[in-house]
Amino acid sequence: MTANKTIILIDEIDYIYPNNTIALSKVSLKINKGELIAIMGQNGAGKTTLIRTLNGLIRPTNGNVYVKGENNSTKSIAQLSKIIGIIFQNPMHQLFSNSIEEELKFSLRNLEYTKEQIQQKIDNILSKFDFEKYRNRSPFNLSGGEAKKLALATIICRDPEILVFDEPTLGQDAKEIDFFLKVIYNELEKGKTIVMVTHNIEFAFENIPRTILMANGKILADGPTEQVLTNDLLVKKASLVLPQIHQFKLGLKEIGIDVPNEIFKERDMISFINNYLKVRIANR
Ligand SMILES: Nc1ncnc2c1ncn2[C@@H]1O[C@H](COP(=O)(O)OP(=O)(O)O)[C@@H](O)[C@H]1O
Ligand SMILES: [Mg+2]
Repeated sequence: MTANKTIILIDEIDYIYPNNTIALSKVSLKINKGELIAIMGQNGAGKTTLIRTLNGLIRPTNGNVYVKGENNSTKSIAQLSKIIGIIFQNPMHQLFSNSIEEELKFSLRNLEYTKEQIQQKIDNILSKFDFEKYRNRSPFNLSGGEAKKLALATIICRDPEILVFDEPTLGQDAKEIDFFLKVIYNELEKGKTIVMVTHNIEFAFENIPRTILMANGKILADGPTEQVLTNDLLVKKASLVLPQIHQFKLGLKEIGIDVPNEIFKERDMISFINNYLKVRIANR
């Protein structure tokens, strides 16, 4: 994998909505190819506005966004959408067609594929997503979770280099979240870059290596998730709460069990406690 190669560079952007709301001010950010990143922060912090600048849906009032070294201002939304796939919070707004197969066909238009290639891609994705039985079904009578899964399928079959999700786990059950994780880890293995806006602090803490915290249109913090989301002051400023597993660790420390710093994920905590108990029992 090509590490440390910048794929997205956001350089001091401001965004002011036509009603004069300052949604972003002096936001700068560098994302490397192959990274998995969470963007977190309270409602109204500017997260959705920020990701909308990535594929040109909105153009910064000041400053520049570069994707793969080229300034977004020189590119159309259609051009940028080939590189960056975004799934917004309510995927129903992104669905148009009469059937799921049609929806997938629609998302594959303008991509220089032959008819046969398109059909093959659709068949593949329907099978991978266990959607074959839904092929002819209308996207409008899917459950919320299924609609999110379909939106994911429409983006994955386009195969963009950068995937951006706004609240992907919202309204998803545990099984759907597991499936989503499997899909994104598979994309990461292929070298894709993934940016995720999420309120799901437990999900971010367990699964996402880097976290950006936003508040009031600014970036409050940007760093390794296990550092950012365990910083009490920062977490409060962003109107979040500390991850449960971290609170548990602090509780253990309080009763004299010194959990090493590098243990912060659930599975590591379980094996730490398992070893700790084994040693205690053996020393009785
Ligand atoms: N279309 C819009 N017109 C005017 N103001 C908007 C619009 N969309 C969002 N805003 C405002 O911009 C700020 C940032 O919003 P947003 O990017 O949606 O935040 P987040 O996604 O973090 O909840 C908020 O104050 C919000 O009210
Ligand atoms: Mg939002």
